[in-house]
Amino acid sequence: MKPNEITQRDIDNWSRCTPTTQLCRPTTCAAEPAPRDSFDLREARQLFDTLAAKSRLADLGEQSSALAHELRQPLFSISVANENLRMMLGRSDMTRSQLDKAITRIAEQVERAQTIIDRTLAYASGRDMGVVSADVAVAANNAVEFLRPLFETADIEIDVGGARMSAAVGLCQVEAEQIFVNILRNAAESIEARREAGWEGSGRIAICIMKKGDILQCVVSDNGAGVSCEVATAVFEPFFTTKPRVGTGLGLHICRQALQKVGGEVRLLAGKREGARVEIELPLSLGS
Ligand SMILES: Nc1ncnc2c1ncn2[C@@H]1O[C@H](COP(=O)(O)OP(=O)(O)OP(=O)(O)O)[C@@H](O)[C@H]1O
Ligand SMILES: [Mg+2]
Repeated sequence: MKPNEITQRDIDNWSRCTPTTQLCRPTTCAAEPAPRDSFDLREARQLFDTLAAKSRLADLGEQSSALAHELRQPLFSISVANENLRMMLGRSDMTRSQLDKAITRIAEQVERAQTIIDRTLAYASGRDMGVVSADVAVAANNAVEFLRPLFETADIEIDVGGARMSAAVGLCQVEAEQIFVNILRNAAESIEARREAGWEGSGRIAICIMKKGDILQCVVSDNGAGVSCEVATAVFEPFFTTKPRVGTGLGLHICRQALQKVGGEVRLLAGKREGARVEIELPLSLGS
């Protein structure tokens, strides 16, 4: 069940606890005394039904925006892989295995998009997804691979520390990858913004994954344009963006929601010397 969903039990409890006098509307028709309790209770139920429907619609609206936002990455990867495949087909020196690899990359991203849709629909219908587990280092490396064409075009170096560590957490693998995709994309966009302002240095992003007792810590730092304290405190609100042309302001909100669901947290801070850093903490799965 979703956190803000109104259930039949809420309606029944509310009806039981609310004094009848509060439920009754003043009536001027003395000749026709309405069976006030049952009439007003029915009205109260209708009101709650309407509110419940509105709350579901609002929830669905947020889910649809999040779905559209998260489908951008697999669609981007599919279009890049498709373009590569088209170029390969025009060359005579391509081997069968190279072509197979490109086709497999497209199939993987289609499957990933399908999983994102399935999870959203399961959430919308209140279906339980069962116990899930993700390896954070694998998720970080996969996200880097998905965005590799973006980093290459923007000439950004990327370093993953702790890449071989095995660290399981209670997210599903696609969700963990989505978190890194959003954070890495932001870091790349910030480096681009710094360059647009005249900076000519080389762009760098570093991911560092560590275990501290039963907590997993992960820091993604960049040498982009940086972030002010005011902006840093607002960035997790839905639709907050400082990128009027390209941003929707949903990336970090989606990350925080996914992490809080499993008892995790995420912060955006100014970098120690330059740029910005995103710090993530979340509980490790038992035995990890
Ligand atoms: N690495 C970063 N460096 C500087 N500012 C950042 C960084 N990451 C996030 N921000 C700030 O946080 C804001 C919110 O980020 P968020 O990912 O939620 O939305 P967005 O990137 O603006 O749009 P989108 O929904 O397309 O991701 C950004 O607009 C930016 O101001
Ligand atoms: Mg973003």
